Amino acid sequence: MHSFAYKNGSLHCEGVNLADIAAVIGTPTFVYSKKTITEDLSEFREALSPLDAHVAYAVKACSNKAILNLMVQQGVGFDIVSGGELWRVINAGGDATLCTYAGVGKTEPEIRYALEQNIYCFNCESENELREINRIAGEMGVHAPIAVRVNPHVDAHTHKYITTGTNENKFGVDITRIEELYATIAAEMPHLRIRGLQMHIGSQLTEIRPFVEAIEKVAPVVRKFIDLYGIEFWSIGGGIGIVYDGCLASGLSAWWAEHPEHITIRGYADAIIPLLKPLGIKIIVEPGRRLTGNACAMLTTCLYEKRGEAKTFKMIDAGMNDIIRPALYEGYHEIWPVTEHRDDTIVADIVGPICESGDFQAQNRAIADVKPGEVLAEMSAGAYGFSMASTYNSRPLAAEVLVDGEKWHIIRRRQTLEEIVTGECLPGEC
Ligand code: LLP
Repeated sequence: MHSFAYKNGSLHCEGVNLADIAAVIGTPTFVYSKKTITEDLSEFREALSPLDAHVAYAVKACSNKAILNLMVQQGVGFDIVSGGELWRVINAGGDATLCTYAGVGKTEPEIRYALEQNIYCFNCESENELREINRIAGEMGVHAPIAVRVNPHVDAHTHKYITTGTNENKFGVDITRIEELYATIAAEMPHLRIRGLQMHIGSQLTEIRPFVEAIEKVAPVVRKFIDLYGIEFWSIGGGIGIVYDGCLASGLSAWWAEHPEHITIRGYADAIIPLLKPLGIKIIVEPGRRLTGNACAMLTTCLYEKRGEAKTFKMIDAGMNDIIRPALYEGYHEIWPVTEHRDDTIVADIVGPICESGDFQAQNRAIADVKPGEVLAEMSAGAYGFSMASTYNSRPLAAEVLVDGEKWHIIRRRQTLEEIVTGECLPGEC
């Protein structure tokens, strides 16, 4: 579900008129709904309750302190991919002992920091990395809890840049080599403690079948590892897709009713529970996008319009530096005027101010014929939106707001130009 809807001709997030937020703090601004996030999280937990299931929110999807703190209040763990993300979790009041640490390129300072903070587990991606963690743990006089990410070689049917579970990808260890690697760890790496097994086959999966295929492929390995090494968990990763095209037009419930083939939390849970329950092991899920994606819209203002020979362009004040998904993954985000229009749809490109032809949020899109000065909402912007933003073209990072019922709170103020250059200096000055 999500909490964005028109009321009396104005787009609202929960009980707040988005036009009011834009009028007070300007645009671009990311607006998150507390209700959507907490409800989706509850749905996740409820759906997986027949299992000993634990949610580790994938911090990379949206790492704002207030969003992480909201997750902390709900008692979830975290899937992190850097020392920086671990720091953010702790800074937001989170518990390091509920963190799993993934990623192919962990550095020595990051590994030391994670060991000092006593994280739950390193999810490792190569033998080299395991040997490095073993060495560092030995020096520190501790045992490092580890799991290895197994690559099951399953096609996730998603965009090529966000598929991770085939042997063409840099991630994980081939399923054909995983047993040998665990034997090597047990025999040769005394400062490691084998705690689990991990996998993650890709992101924005809209079908359930690849998840089922991967679980069926890896379950026999999990069984063996329970017997051989007493592993206590299997993390099956994240990847559950959201609805990008159709979420506001018809309202999500209606959309789902018309698209029964599209993954839902309930459908996902119902398909995997029978496969996982017999293993009798703790299951970790690492959703990122599914918890924050539909929970946010980015507000942006139409600056200009231009009718050319071939196309009509609407220039907005948000660029690929604010949301890079259309440029990088051919991502689709619905764009709606905050003040409702009727019967004036045109086809246009919605483009940003960045000096790149790839700087668009939508191309050849049927959209309301908005005029300069009007505020627009770019939907489903809560995952990999702000967290992938940059200051390219020396554009300050956008503001972020959390809506809670009738109230809204700034959870990140707009960056200043001074903040953009903080840390820069002339040679010899730093
Ligand atoms: N676990 C691991 C090990 C991951 O690598 C990821 C995402 C997740 C969990 C969370 O996946 P999710 O539930 O959010 O699909 N920037 C791209 C998505 C990159 C995903 C990277 N890994 C995008 O905007 O589509």
